[in-house]
Amino acid sequence: MFLVCLSDFEAYAKKHLPKVTWDYFAAGADESCTRDDNLMAYKRIRLRPRVLRDVSVVDTKTMILGTEISFPVGIAPTGFHKLAWPDGEESTAKAADAMNTCYIASTYATCSMEEIVAAAPTGFRWFQLYIHQKRSASEWLVRRAEALGFQAVVLTVDVPYSGKRREDLRNDFQLPPHLSVKNLEGSFEDHDRSEYGLPANSMEPRLSWEDIRWLQSLTHLPIVLKGILTKEDADLAVRHGVQGIIVSNHGGRQLDGVPATIDALVEIKEIVQDKVEVYLDGGIRTGSDVLKALALGAKCVFIGRPALWGLAYKGEEGLREVLQVLKDEFRLSMALTGCRNVSEIGRHLVQSSRL
Ligand code: FNR
Ligand code: LAC
Repeated sequence: MFLVCLSDFEAYAKKHLPKVTWDYFAAGADESCTRDDNLMAYKRIRLRPRVLRDVSVVDTKTMILGTEISFPVGIAPTGFHKLAWPDGEESTAKAADAMNTCYIASTYATCSMEEIVAAAPTGFRWFQLYIHQKRSASEWLVRRAEALGFQAVVLTVDVPYSGKRREDLRNDFQLPPHLSVKNLEGSFEDHDRSEYGLPANSMEPRLSWEDIRWLQSLTHLPIVLKGILTKEDADLAVRHGVQGIIVSNHGGRQLDGVPATIDALVEIKEIVQDKVEVYLDGGIRTGSDVLKALALGAKCVFIGRPALWGLAYKGEEGLREVLQVLKDEFRLSMALTGCRNVSEIGRHLVQSSRL
């Protein structure tokens, strides 16, 4: 089989995964308007290519938080990779390392962070943190991540409660009994395991800006906030001394009706400018989507579902292929717009009437 673009991997995954798993990966909240708008918004943006610029050599490398990656696409944190492929996150870690990019490992991984590090000891990784009401469990995660060499903590701030995902409710989606949230094994009493094998409503809905200081007191690692969608919150993030922001609407899985992330990026970049690094996830499906996000100010983007499709196709090899397709498409988009390195990508590449 010859898969040439990310939607080919999507079609493969849809055909081969059990329906309940496919539905969980694909789910958006409520009517999935935001999930779909994440993709459509890119198609509304028009590019302004420059020509006759000798694009015989095109360099896709960039730096995030001081570390070089081979191109500005990393792996967003998503839960339960063993639903897609038997080795789960171990394969994800190997693929990201082989492609020399950043893997944000989820709290809700089906491999422990120790297993993830052992699978790809030299990999560049950040740890995505969910804070539970049982704070000692979250503290333990942060301390382990730092000791294991994760290079940042990505705090997800858009899940005080889970969004309403209709298909998951219809399917009564549960983690199969042979899988678990490995990172939190032993952290909770055993009596109620109704939510992904964790106690129901265990996420901390009291989380507030004051908790950023608490998190900073636990770790020397840089902190990145994931799930910022407004300039007000972006400004607060900067004032609280975090090192990065991921403009994200959780792939449209939380609050339906919020803007596509590429649209939110514009107002956030206006206020943040270069004070901290700004990244984006949601709806990246082609190399020109990556180019547009960088043109509007993202330092790097992350892919969620497409990484799961790659795993579902062929584990580590399948995810490497997904990343390679995006890298090749991104390089071609750079060349065809006259950019020889990522620092030449800027606002001038995008028609302003569309913003
Ligand atoms: C997610 N996402 C997510 N985010 C997070 O911070 N922790 C997590 O455990 C998960 N889990 C998760 C599972 C699945 C199946 C999906 C699809 C998404 C959100 C994820 O990091 C990211 O924001 C979106 O997936 C980006 O959108 P795309 O690339 O899927 O369109
Ligand atoms: C999700 C949770 C795990 O989006 O963040 O499914």
